[in-house]
Amino acid sequence: MRYITTPIYYVNDVAHIGHAYTTIIADTFARFYRLKGHETYFLTGTDEHGQKIEQAAKLKNFTPKEYADEISAEFKKLWDEFDISYDKFIRTTDENHTLSVQKAFSKMFEKGDIYKGVYEGFYCVSCESYFTQTQLVNGCHCPDCGKKTELLKEESYFFKLSNYQDKILKWYKEQEPIIPKNKASELINFVEGGLKDLSITRTSFEWGVKLPKELNDDKHVVYVWLDALMNYISALGWGNDGQNMKFWPAHIHFVGKDILRFHAVYWPAFLMSLELPLPKFIAAHGWWTKDGEKMSKSKGNVISPKEVVDIFGLESFRYFLLREVPFGNDGDYSQKALITRINAELSNELGNLLNRIIGMSAKYSQNIIESKNVQEFFNEELKECQAYLQNAISFLENIQPNRYLEELFKALALANLSISKYEPWNLIKNNENAKANALVALCANILAKVSILLFAAMPKTSLKIAKALSFEISTLNYKKIIEENKLLNFKTQICEVLFPKIESKEENKQESKQQEQQTTNLAQIKIDDFKKIEIKVALVKECENIEGSEKLLKFKLELENGEIRQVLSGIAKFYKANELIGKQVCVITNLKKAKIFGHESQGMILSAEKNGKLTLISPESFIENGALIG
Ligand code: ME8
Ligand code: MG
Repeated sequence: MRYITTPIYYVNDVAHIGHAYTTIIADTFARFYRLKGHETYFLTGTDEHGQKIEQAAKLKNFTPKEYADEISAEFKKLWDEFDISYDKFIRTTDENHTLSVQKAFSKMFEKGDIYKGVYEGFYCVSCESYFTQTQLVNGCHCPDCGKKTELLKEESYFFKLSNYQDKILKWYKEQEPIIPKNKASELINFVEGGLKDLSITRTSFEWGVKLPKELNDDKHVVYVWLDALMNYISALGWGNDGQNMKFWPAHIHFVGKDILRFHAVYWPAFLMSLELPLPKFIAAHGWWTKDGEKMSKSKGNVISPKEVVDIFGLESFRYFLLREVPFGNDGDYSQKALITRINAELSNELGNLLNRIIGMSAKYSQNIIESKNVQEFFNEELKECQAYLQNAISFLENIQPNRYLEELFKALALANLSISKYEPWNLIKNNENAKANALVALCANILAKVSILLFAAMPKTSLKIAKALSFEISTLNYKKIIEENKLLNFKTQICEVLFPKIESKEENKQESKQQEQQTTNLAQIKIDDFKKIEIKVALVKECENIEGSEKLLKFKLELENGEIRQVLSGIAKFYKANELIGKQVCVITNLKKAKIFGHESQGMILSAEKNGKLTLISPESFIENGALIG
């Protein structure tokens, strides 16, 4: 049984790359465990109560519920678009959740873990967190987020956190639940420093879960962190039908490092008070920054995950997030790093291997790949591959997703290197057909094994590879080809290019430098050479910018008989998209198709360039579309 959770996200803001990161990591683990054959439950959702949401709603002239409905739906829509395989999307405004929180409150109260008192201290609305004067920075600011705190003095119910201090320390020591392990020492220091009882109700605003009826105390609402943490068990039906409580305790709660303390100190204390077992792991990842700065709305440097995915594709985005930073470390988001990984790893190492296997099997063996001789010829390689795969699995089990991917790519590199080392084309020439076919089978088996393990991180890519090699990604095959290390036979079929190379701006720059040099020492050509190029007049029907590219415009051009062509051109710095519609331009029409930034281009628009200036070439007077230039 494997229960995997993300934090429930506050609905005061829309999703950004950090939220996507946690969700994609959790999705990867849920997919991995399912494929391995574990019964798995994956929870995500939204955190909708509290002063922060109440204030955000007021600013927009919404009721808190209207506001929460809208933003919660946006989160859900995004995760659906990203094909996140959650089993439940919980909202803290769900009635069952509210009931569950009230039940928990009653239970803790009956147990004697809750008492009424007066809270006096400092509150950070942004973090929804309490601080003592000595914890504040610069007089009155929050030590976590730096925002101004407010001084509160109000009647409050308290939870006897102090009762659980020793038990929490014992849990850290015996179970080692905190991932990465080096984050535990901070927590130990914090808990050893003494836990104060926690204020768990508020009276100064209304947007929250009311206290259980029997307490007859209408003024209070439940503190948003008690409310929020309870989602992990209310989602399983705790305090209601209990239907899915068999999944408890959680296998991994994924959180950002900002909220580790709530999960590693308050949450186990609440659970102990409710006499429930404690989660196995609490895994805290680091922060994504942009150009070294924390992302925030006010700085305007927030990266929208949807925009990145629209340009570079979901699979590349998932790969990049998981691969780029060691789990627990902070990472800086850069488009350049993303493009480098797509080109060097996904396109060269992974996509290319599939192409080579399909190509070789078509040439040597009518698309049939038989594995009967692999062990005889390539036992060493098989063993090496198996070692990488075993490492990959243990890295994943130990919550080091970056290292798991690293190992899988070592296996891919092994396959690619084997092709250059044994040169199957020469084996065929020398009549060593059995060895050549065994080499193709070795590579196909490595790719199939890697695809099964890669499925967790890049499900769509793995399915495409499986289709091209005609095997199935299934629990049965996981057992067979990963655990029992069996080899498969394959039948290959053509498949679209998995990861087209992406031209980055840097590469463009280099290219244009090369072109400049070429113009100065061009060879003489014959008229026949020139005639190989077909240039026609075309009308610009549509023209638009390409998201994420400062350089590119996307054209729809009309040729003869109304034929429409899509052509990309790197002239966005010189022309606005809408000023070109209705103009005639000159276009090379027999250029090989290319994919740039994920968009197809079927031609090249002619322009003249000198000293940083650029102008398009147009016919001197109107002529019918499709007219040949020569
Ligand atoms: O804290 N880099 O919700 P929240 C990486 N409702 N991860 C980031 C990030 C960044 N720059 N920004 C956000 C809450 N995250 C509470 C949680 S759980 C019972 C209640 C991710 O909307 C990261 O996982 O502020 C972080 O923990 C979470 O979003 C915080 O989301
Ligand atoms: Mg936050």
